Formats: sequence, structure tokens, C-alpha cells
Amino acid sequence: ISEVARVKNLNRLQMGKYEVDAWYFSPYPKEYAHLPVLYICEFCLSFFPSPMMLKRHRLRCTLLHPPGNEIYRHDDISVFEIDGKRQLTYCRNLSLLSKCFLDHKTLYYDVTPFLYYVMTQRDSMGSHIIGYFSKEKESAENYNVACILTLPQHQRYGFGKLLIQFSYELSRKEGKLGSPEKPLSDLGLLSYRAYWADTIVDLLVNAADELSIDDIAQKTSITHSDVMNTCTTLQLFKHYKGQHIICLSDTVLERHRKWLAKRRRSIYPDHLIWKPPV
Ligand code: COA
Ligand code: NA
Repeated sequence: ISEVARVKNLNRLQMGKYEVDAWYFSPYPKEYAHLPVLYICEFCLSFFPSPMMLKRHRLRCTLLHPPGNEIYRHDDISVFEIDGKRQLTYCRNLSLLSKCFLDHKTLYYDVTPFLYYVMTQRDSMGSHIIGYFSKEKESAENYNVACILTLPQHQRYGFGKLLIQFSYELSRKEGKLGSPEKPLSDLGLLSYRAYWADTIVDLLVNAADELSIDDIAQKTSITHSDVMNTCTTLQLFKHYKGQHIICLSDTVLERHRKWLAKRRRSIYPDHLIWKPPV
């Protein structure tokens, strides 16, 4: 996190009603690289050198939501599934935009092997992008997320965890266990650790019977090793009469109470209308 603060801002980005600093270099075409502000159409993600040109574009651009299929809707939150092969320009623009906030990943110039899951929040003006994750159509390692981003103007409101929860709901429908592609950024790791801990502890608190590592994995779609690491970090393993058992300490229960009290949003699986692509 301190690393983020130390990085020199390249320029600013204007999207909808927000203007934010870019954190890292992103390979926008040379003509755009040195502009003080880049103007981005928040619906198609095309970029422009001036507010005038964006305004002219908005007269022609009829999009009021991301392209692709709306596969989830609950209250004002939707998720659109976008095939990198079918929506080349949109997905390239999304990659350029997200590179502004990602240091460690190589930018995928080839967007065709990926599906993109874009989360939006709807108001009377349209469905505004909050964040997204990408996912390889075929991952040999069973990664269920390649890249994940909450746009800076929407960070720290729980949307990162909501995107992560959504990625595990897709894995559940596929009948698979999943894990994000490594390496994760500092912020990515913090968010995943928080999600794993919240999810596993909530499951244990509400379980009628004792659960094994495998039970937890099957119920959450979190891989065995991520479950193991989380339980170890939370110090949930105890020796009892010659056996390893999972035991919730007061500290962990207190953490769970705090989480319940402040939890803002959740994904409602019944509202996910989706079959794994074949
Ligand atoms: N400082 C400390 N903790 C942080 C943090 C920060 N700046 N940002 C997130 N966290 C931790 C917190 O534990 C937080 O939970 P809490 O607010 O309940 O304490 C948890 O992570 C998740 O927060 P949430 O609000 O759900 O996440 P977010 O919408 O801010 O998105 C990322 C998280 C990682 C997607 C976002 O920071 C991001 O897009 N970063 C840039 C891109 C990136 O690094 N992606 C991951 C690698 S591919
Ligand atoms: Na980061």
C-alpha cells in the first residue's frame, strides 16, 4: 500500500462524474500519454484528449451499460459477461484502463482468451462500471480470476469482496474449486485474505456439524490450500485428544460479529442466470 503512494502519477483520468489519478504506467497510444487528463467514455471505455471530443462522442455512442450479456442483477448491481473475442475494442480499452492501477501484471494485449465480468451500479443515467475481473476461458491451473480491479473512486466500499464472491459463485456453477492467478498485488492479497477469512468463519459459525477441510472447500469453492492457509493464519487448528480439530477462538468470533455488523452487500446466487460456457 505504501508502494502505491510512492509511485509518481502519470496523469489523471476522467470517467463520468469522477476524476482520479493514474497509479501506474499504461500503454495508451503516444499522443495520449502526456495529456494532463484523459477523458474516458464510462460506457464504451473509449478515450479522448478533451472534454469536447468526449461530448461529441457521447452524442454518437448509444451505450448505457457495458456490452455483452447481463448474467446477474440484484437491486442496482449487475454483472455483464463479455467475450474478449467478440468485444475486442471494449476489452482492450478495459485492459488499458485497468493497467493504470496495476503494477505487477503484464497487460494482456491478447484479450481473446479471456472472459470479462464487469460489475455495474445502475441509476437513472445508466449502468456505471464499478470494477471487473477477467478469467481465462481455459485455465490449466484452475484459476478462476486472472485480473481483478475496483476503480479507485469505488474502492473500500466492499465491491472487491463482492467481485471475489461472484468469481466463486461462477466456480460453484462449474462444479470446480478456484483460486486467483498469482502473483496477487498487495491490495489483491489483502482483499482475498479478508474474503477467505470472512467466508470460512461464517460457514463454521453456522455449521451444525464439524466440517473437514474438504467440506469447507466443497461448500465455498475455495481450494484446499487456500482453506488450509486461512485456517492456519486464523489459528483455527487445535490439538484435542490426539486429533486436529477446527476451533473458533473468541478473537475469531469477535471478528465475525464485526463483519456481520458492517457487511454491506452480498451476491444472491438465485439471481445469477448463467451456464458455464462450452
Ligand atoms: N488498505 C488496507 N486494507 C485494504 C485496502 C487498503 N487500501 N484495500 C482493501 N483492503 C482490504 C480490507 O481488509 C478490505 O476489507 P474491509 O474494508 O472490510 O476492511 C478488503 O481488503 C476488501 O475491501 P473491498 O472494499 O471489498 O475491496 P476494493 O473494492 O477496495 O477492491 C481491490 C480491492 C484489490 C480490487 C482494489 O484495491 C484494486 O482494484 N486494486 C488495484 C488493482 C489490484 O491490485 N488488483 C488485484 C491484483 S490482480
Ligand atoms: Na496494487
